[in-house]
Amino acid sequence: MTQRVRKAVIPAAGLGTRFLPATKSQPKEMLPVVDKPSIQYVVEEAVRAGLTDILIITGRGKRAIEDHFDRNFELEFYLEQQGKTDLLKEVQESSELGDIHYIRQKDPRGLGHAVSIAREHVGDEPFAVMLGDDIMVDDSALLRSMLDVHDRYGRSVLALKDVKPEEISAYGCVEPENVDESLVQVKSIVEKPKMEDAPSTLAVIGRYVFTPEIFEALDRTQPGAGGEIQLTDAIGLLNQDQTVYGQVFTEGRFDIGQKVDFLRANVELALDREELRPELEKFLLETLRRRGII
Ligand code: G1P
Repeated sequence: MTQRVRKAVIPAAGLGTRFLPATKSQPKEMLPVVDKPSIQYVVEEAVRAGLTDILIITGRGKRAIEDHFDRNFELEFYLEQQGKTDLLKEVQESSELGDIHYIRQKDPRGLGHAVSIAREHVGDEPFAVMLGDDIMVDDSALLRSMLDVHDRYGRSVLALKDVKPEEISAYGCVEPENVDESLVQVKSIVEKPKMEDAPSTLAVIGRYVFTPEIFEALDRTQPGAGGEIQLTDAIGLLNQDQTVYGQVFTEGRFDIGQKVDFLRANVELALDREELRPELEKFLLETLRRRGII
């Protein structure tokens, strides 16, 4: 029987250069989307999908992440004294999300390297990898369906999205073979191909479920694109021994590593909130009219 996935690994050691100067002295994972740091959305997605053991790979300057998921007694005491029970609940909830562990990646040697240092914590079990730049607002549907595919086949599963041809060079890209409407087998995989060399327009998005054999594949992976140990290259090696699957999805993703998508996530998620929607809708309409856009 296939072993059930319990653990999630969230790499969060990146320098966040795309969001400088906001990330000069704080981790990019702590940038708020509406009123929650972006990494909390990812942790909540894991927990909703039943993954309660979470390992966050951090690095220098990432202490704020650990503090965020810890208790803050002084703040809790203050909120209690002030009778601010709703806020108190929010603050306490962020420190009660699953069982969160941390490990530091000392040198930024790439995503593959970041995942490889999770080996001791993960052990000989299947596990999920969730990249913080991708926020999913789908009630964990994608991750759950990937876990189902893993349960069924006992193999690794990648999240795939069809992107515009001119966007594919920003992603890992797979050559697919269809199993059914939304499930493919990976025939080959390549990191950030040029548009004209890409085997398809199916991009790897930041959700993965891996069998533990990915660690052996990572051991064998030489530095690739950008001189970094690429997770994509390790997936290619793994695929030589075990079929890797891809779950294709269409809805619910914000790539908050991109400025426009970061802003879009803020607007969309705020519009989903009843207490914010009326005023925000009014503001958006007025602004678009004033600027002559509508
Ligand atoms: C990483 C991976 C890439 C994947 C992407 C998803 O790239 O290397 O294969 O498609 O995440 O967001 P990065 O965005 O870190 O350059």
